[in-house]
Amino acid sequence: MKITIAIDGYSSTGKSTVAKQLAEWLEYIYVDTGAMYRAVTLYAMRKGYISDGFFDKESLIAKLDDIEITFVKNTATAKAEVCLNAENVEREIRTLEVSSFVSPVATVSEVRAKLVEQQQKMGDTKGVVMDGRDIGTVVFPNAELKIFMTASAEERAQRRYQELLDRGDTVDYKAVLANVVERDEIDTTREDSPLVKAADAIEIDNTETNVEDQFHTILQLAKDRIAGRV
Ligand code: DC
Repeated sequence: MKITIAIDGYSSTGKSTVAKQLAEWLEYIYVDTGAMYRAVTLYAMRKGYISDGFFDKESLIAKLDDIEITFVKNTATAKAEVCLNAENVEREIRTLEVSSFVSPVATVSEVRAKLVEQQQKMGDTKGVVMDGRDIGTVVFPNAELKIFMTASAEERAQRRYQELLDRGDTVDYKAVLANVVERDEIDTTREDSPLVKAADAIEIDNTETNVEDQFHTILQLAKDRIAGRV
């Protein structure tokens, strides 16, 4: 039996790392829903709908039908990469600038409705691991396994900071921490589909857990669900 696995949690808690590992191990499809919100944000930035202290929501809503988000497999890494209107934007969506505008974009109900519909279609055959903020609460409220990941803001900022340095970006740790804290605030307090732990989700705090141990814990939970043991 194939199941649906929903992995929600705060930014930079390693959701995508564990989701990718699980999908690979189980031969499931992995969907990074944050990448979809980031691609819409990149579109809004390029059109000039969002910039520092400015957000023209109405223009973005009016153009939603012109935005097509797809995934393409990178043959070298075997990872799915996000495309915006057929342009691979996997690298462009990971900047601190996109990170600073994505949470306001993700508060727009029309944006959410469009992406949630697409996510539900991608998962309707089961055998999917999806990570995001509202997967266990809104996208797949009936998912067989729901994980909710947390870690301290400082630890998460340190991880994101290291990632940005590793890819060659010049960044300041304090700016990354401020972005993590600000996104937590917007993501948890927005009206439409705020980040909350689903009642039946299993919470995992990985401030001090290594990636390997965490993967084995979650893989065991998945195996139990697949076997119908719990
Ligand atoms: O996982 P991430 O950091 O790439 O997500 C980027 C932003 O997108 C995050 O700050 C909130 C938003 N998001 C969302 O609202 N719902 C999702 N399912 C996934 C992401």
